[in-house]
Order: sequence, then C-alpha cells, then structure tokens
Amino acid sequence: MSRPLLDVRNVSKAFGGVIANRNVSLQVKRGEIVGLIGPNGSGKTTLFNSIVGYHPIDAGEIWFKGEEISRLRVGAIARRGLLRTFQQTRIYGRMTAMENMLISLPERKSGFFDLLHSRHSVGIERAKELLEFVGLYSKRYHYAGDLSFGQQKLLEFAMALINEPDMLLLDEPTAGINPTLINGLIDRLRRANEELGITLLVIEHNMRVIMNLAERIYCLAHGEMLAEGKPEEIRNDPRVIDAYLGAH
Ligand SMILES: Nc1ncnc2c1ncn2[C@@H]1O[C@H](COP(=O)(O)OP(=O)(O)OP(=O)(O)O)[C@@H](O)[C@H]1O
Ligand SMILES: [Mg+2]
Repeated sequence: MSRPLLDVRNVSKAFGGVIANRNVSLQVKRGEIVGLIGPNGSGKTTLFNSIVGYHPIDAGEIWFKGEEISRLRVGAIARRGLLRTFQQTRIYGRMTAMENMLISLPERKSGFFDLLHSRHSVGIERAKELLEFVGLYSKRYHYAGDLSFGQQKLLEFAMALINEPDMLLLDEPTAGINPTLINGLIDRLRRANEELGITLLVIEHNMRVIMNLAERIYCLAHGEMLAEGKPEEIRNDPRVIDAYLGAH
C-alpha cells in the first residue's frame, strides 16, 4: 500500500479519568472518502481534535503527508493542508456570507502587496466561486445568522474550502439539516472530493449517508477502534451492530 496521507498510530487521549481514545489507529489514502462512526461518546470528536492539534495526545503518533504532526498546533497543521469543521458551526452571524468567506482566507503571504492582492482580488473571486459551488451565491450579502442551519453548514464548508486543504475532517456534516437538503450536501462533498481533489474523513450518525458516501468506514466504540471495512462489511459486522444496540 502506498504511504497514507493521514496516518494515526496507536493514539490515546484521556480527560481526567475518562479514556476518550485508547490505542486508536486509522489510515486515509490521498483521494479517499472515509467514514468514522460509533455510538455517542465513543471518542470520534476527540480523535478529530487530536488529529488537528486542538489538544495534545497522551500517546501515539499522527503523521500527515509523510511528516509527524503529533506535536504541532492547530495553525501549523492547518497550514500543512489539514482542516476540520465543527459539530456545531462556527460562523459569524453578524457578518455576511461573503465576509465570513474573506476572513477565512489563509494568510500565507506576508508582504503588503501580496496580502492586498491575494486577500482582496483573487480572494474575492475565489470566495464567490465557492459560494456558487455550495449553492449560496445568491445569499452572499445575507447575514450568516439569517441563513438556515443547513445553509450555515454549507457556508462553513465553503469557508474551509477557501483554504485549499488537501484533507478535510467533517464532524457530522448532515446533523440538523433538513432531510431534503442532505442529498445536495452529499453531492457537494463528493464533488469536492472528485473535482477539487480533497480527501475526506467524515464523522456521521446518519447511516444512509455514510454508507452511500464513504468507500471505507471505521467504527469506534468506548474509545477503541472496533472495526474497519467497506460499507457492506461494516453494516453486517456483528460487533458494530452490538455496539450500537448496546449503546441504547
Ligand atoms: N474536553 C473534554 N473534557 C472532558 N471530557 C471530555 C472532553 N471531550 C470529550 N470528553 C469525553 O470523552 C468521551 C468521548 O467524547 P467525544 O465527544 O469524543 O465523543 P463522540 O464520539 O464525538 O460523541 P458524539 O457522537 O455524541 O458527538 C466522552 O465520554 C466525553 O464526555
Ligand atoms: Mg462528537
């Protein structure tokens, strides 16, 4: 197997006495769409937080693009092309959709002219293209706080895309979204993968969505990696079925 884009090796993370992740390993190859499922509290969001440098891990290693990133901070990891979106959206409600896009622009270039150029002309064009891509172009001057929850999630997705990530970690992208908009969102995720070449790791509770979207799925239970496989394998895996039934 070629070197994975993201390689999580035996990662553990505890909060006080609660072991949120124990010896978790996961690999994602460039170009893949991979799912991460598991009952509530099984450690999915914690794993995302560890990967993107939101908090230090207790043990293990995380590699991205062949470089160890285990001890880097959020900003340094983002600059390397690895970004996440949140289970709860993080947009500025009192700013327009367009303004939210512009403040999300990366600040890779430091010179005044570069900043002016990249942030204001190229940036505005790219922001418009991406708002078009997620179907929010006509709402570009609306306050983000006036958008529906589903539209806010699409905006947050576009805000991540403007950074041109190699890989995006999406934490429950369809949660709280009107079922009729879910197919549109899945279509956008797939197009971001196929047309923009973005590798995706997606936490999702909606089984129909993840079975349809992901090529491979990992399942966490009680902080440990329980299973990995193709959607059909995961759907029929007795350990996965037990984990979900046992959780209720
Ligand atoms: N910052 C924190 N401080 C203390 N405990 C935490 C913290 N973050 C997570 N935990 C605990 O770690 C465990 C895993 O939580 P996590 O949020 O990663 O689960 P999850 O799989 O994302 O759940 P959900 O499906 O409900 O979003 C839970 O027991 C949770 O209470
Ligand atoms: Mg979570």
